[in-house]
Amino acid sequence: MRHFLKETDFSLEEATEIFKLARELKADRFSTPNFLNRQSWGLLFYKSSTRTRVSFEVGINEMAGFPVVLSSQSTQIGRGESVADTSKVFSRFLHGVIIRTFGHEIVEEFASEGTIPVVNALTDFLHPCQIYADLFTLSERWSPSPEAFGPECLKGRKIAFLGDSACNVANSWILGANMFGLDISLAGPEGFEPGPEIRALLDKEGYGQNYHFTHDATEAVEGADMVYTDVWVSMGMEDEAAARIEQMQPYTVNSELMAKANPGAVFMHCLPAHPGQEVSEAVLRSAQSIIFDQAENRLHAQKAILAKLARLNLVEPA
Ligand code: CP
Ligand code: NVA
Repeated sequence: MRHFLKETDFSLEEATEIFKLARELKADRFSTPNFLNRQSWGLLFYKSSTRTRVSFEVGINEMAGFPVVLSSQSTQIGRGESVADTSKVFSRFLHGVIIRTFGHEIVEEFASEGTIPVVNALTDFLHPCQIYADLFTLSERWSPSPEAFGPECLKGRKIAFLGDSACNVANSWILGANMFGLDISLAGPEGFEPGPEIRALLDKEGYGQNYHFTHDATEAVEGADMVYTDVWVSMGMEDEAAARIEQMQPYTVNSELMAKANPGAVFMHCLPAHPGQEVSEAVLRSAQSIIFDQAENRLHAQKAILAKLARLNLVEPA
C-alpha cells in the first residue's frame, strides 16, 4: 500500500508525473477524468483548516469521488477510540483517508493499522501537500516555456525560509528542497533551528545535513529567488504565543528584507498569515507575493496526488 505521509513517499520521477498531471488538470479543470470513480475518501481533522479542507473536498468531487469530512471531536476518537481500531474501521468503508493531526506517529499508525492509502494533510512534523503545491507553483513560474514545464527548473535555485525554522512547513521545505535540488537557507532565533527529527530523516533519505541555518535574516535571503515564511505560532503552540512573538521579531519579512533577495524574487506563505508579525502587509500584498497562486494550486496538486495514489494502489476496501 502506497501512502503520502512525507515528500519522499513518491520518487522524484513519480513526483514529476504528479506535477505534469496537476498542470493538465489545471489547464482544463472541469474536464477532469473520473479518477476516483465513485470512491469514498475520508477527510479527518484534529485541527482547523480552510485551504486543505476545501481543496481536498472540491478536488475529490471533481474526480467523481465522494468526500467524507470528519473532525476528531465529532467521531469516537474524541471519546478515546484508538487510532488502530478507527483505521481498521475506516478501511472497511473508505478507499483512502486524508488526515490532519498533531503527532506524525498518528498518521503513521493509521497507515500501518489500515489497508487503505493515508495522506498527510499536516502533522506537527510535516506538511507535504503544501510543499508539493508550492513546488508546483514555482515550477509554473520558473519553467523556461510552457512546453518545457517541469520541476527540473527548480534545480540550483536558492530559497529562504524565515521564522520558526523548526515548524512543520520548514521541515517539509528542507525535505522538499533536498528532493528537488534547491538550495535552502533558514533563519530564525535560538531554539528554533531544524530539530533532530528532520535531521534524522535527512540522513535516512541519504541527503545528509544539506541546508543552511543562520540567526541572520539578511544572510538567509541574500541570493534567494524565493522567500517563504509561516506563522510564528503553529496550531497547538498557542501557550507559547507571547514568547515566540517576542523572539521572532527580527525575522519579519518586510520590504527592506525582500530588497536583499535576488531581483525578481517571489514571496510565498502557506497561509493563514498574520500581517505585521511574520510578514508585513506591504510584502503580503506586493506584486512579488504569489500567495493566492499557491493556495489555488493546492487543488490541482492534490487532485494529481490522489489520482496517482488511486492508480498505484488500485484496491477496494476489505
Ligand atoms: N496552508 C494550509 O494548510 O491552510 P489551512 O490550514 O487553511 O488548511
Ligand atoms: N505551521 C502552521 C501551518 C498552517 C498551515 C501550523 O501548523 O499551524
